[in-house]
Amino acid sequence: MAVKFYKSENQVPLEMHKVRMVQKLNLLPVDERLRAMQEAGNNTFLLNNRDVYMDMLTDSGVNAMSDLQFAAMMRADDAYAGTETFTRVKAAIKEVFGCDNVLPAHQGRACENILAEAYCAPGKVALMNFHFTTTKAHATRCGATVEELVDPAGLIPQSDNPFKGNYNLENLRNRIDEIGSENVAYVRVEAGTNLIGGQPVSLENMLAVTDICHEKGVRSVLDASLLQDNIYFMKTREARCKYMELKEIYHLLADHFDIIYFSARKLSFAKGGIICSKDPKFTREMQVYIPLYEGFLTYGGIDVRTMEAMAQGLYESLDMEYISQGPLFIDYLAKELDAYGVPVILPPGGLGCHLNAGAFVPDLPHNQYPAAAVGCALYIISGVRGMERGTVSEQREPDGTERYAELELQRLAVPRRVFTLSQIKYVADRVKWLWDNRNLIGGLEWTEEPDVLRFFFGRMKEIGYWQEELVAKFKQDFGDSL
Ligand SMILES: Cc1ncc(COP(=O)(O)O)c(C=O)c1O
Repeated sequence: MAVKFYKSENQVPLEMHKVRMVQKLNLLPVDERLRAMQEAGNNTFLLNNRDVYMDMLTDSGVNAMSDLQFAAMMRADDAYAGTETFTRVKAAIKEVFGCDNVLPAHQGRACENILAEAYCAPGKVALMNFHFTTTKAHATRCGATVEELVDPAGLIPQSDNPFKGNYNLENLRNRIDEIGSENVAYVRVEAGTNLIGGQPVSLENMLAVTDICHEKGVRSVLDASLLQDNIYFMKTREARCKYMELKEIYHLLADHFDIIYFSARKLSFAKGGIICSKDPKFTREMQVYIPLYEGFLTYGGIDVRTMEAMAQGLYESLDMEYISQGPLFIDYLAKELDAYGVPVILPPGGLGCHLNAGAFVPDLPHNQYPAAAVGCALYIISGVRGMERGTVSEQREPDGTERYAELELQRLAVPRRVFTLSQIKYVADRVKWLWDNRNLIGGLEWTEEPDVLRFFFGRMKEIGYWQEELVAKFKQDFGDSL
């Protein structure tokens, strides 16, 4: 929890860890950043990391590992089948979730592929509070449709609603009745709802969703990739969780959900993915796909050293000092920006600070991709790389028309335990400058648009010469500073 400072004006989030290994960073001159952005097709995914000062693209697979995780990696037991390492992963899952049935897969989306293969088919509907890009792509690839039932209050960019990821329970109940239980592939709750700003779901809401699922006889699935942040918010924002042990909350969820899966690139500060369940019926239904797509049942495509890091990282997800670091830094950044008038998603969520690009550049139409444009501008003026979480991250409708995102966000992820506070302050400073110069930000248009997951490899170009004008203004204000 936050340590109290003597003078309230000195209050900052205090790191409860120290840095024992460092990596040199590059901050290129602004002209080179402009060149790098344009060569990357105005897609931050296509930048080379050596051209990036702060990599805020994602919190996935880039969290800092602990000394104990590195130590654990040294004792990995390499075997095709029956490795002791997997026994240790199972023990960690048992400790954290209380589940005995565990399937490994190489990352979160691989778990989603397995779920989709097992339960999604033409005519089936996958219900979720909100979709995640890869979740939806897998479900629809297998012929199912995806419907979102997040409470509309969750889509209001700035509010004091502490749990904006909550399901609208009445709509959930009604939709299951309309669709018919037999046609529901699964009801998925995404903890720390990614695409609406890392917004949490309350414990009460999660349990109510599973109650409805049990009553209606449909499968409930918890995407626990961002559960660690979500549990921090349950502890700090939900009265009933205040005095609960973290482990109690994890266990309670596992008692209620049929299936839990997660990306270990987030939960457990490692890499890999896990599907687990209290009831072996579910893992039995899915396990046939693991050797087919991932690897043998005791490694699932994950390197054994990585599995050791995952096992240790899972124990660390029970440590409030570790799990609070990300949310506290994000809270600091979001409140700094909000106080300056920059539109950010409030209350701050987990995984990153989200700029509300729709309000940042309100005159830029959806079809000129405001969230992507803000991201390009930010990289050019700071070397900070974020990720578009707006219309570019959507899939076009089957008839080819554009599907405009509910929220146009530029996400500045804060990988857990990685950045120092002075780096976060640098980000705040440059975003404030960009806000003051937002009239210079223009639109983007496609030059290469892939059909599926276009945000990963699509290429765009600036409309007009606004990026050159932005660089000229930067030089005017900052002189020869990087
Ligand atoms: C909520 C959620 N689910 C699933 C995934 C997919 O996980 P992975 O990146 O390990 O494939 C992510 C990744 O960001 C996520 O945030």
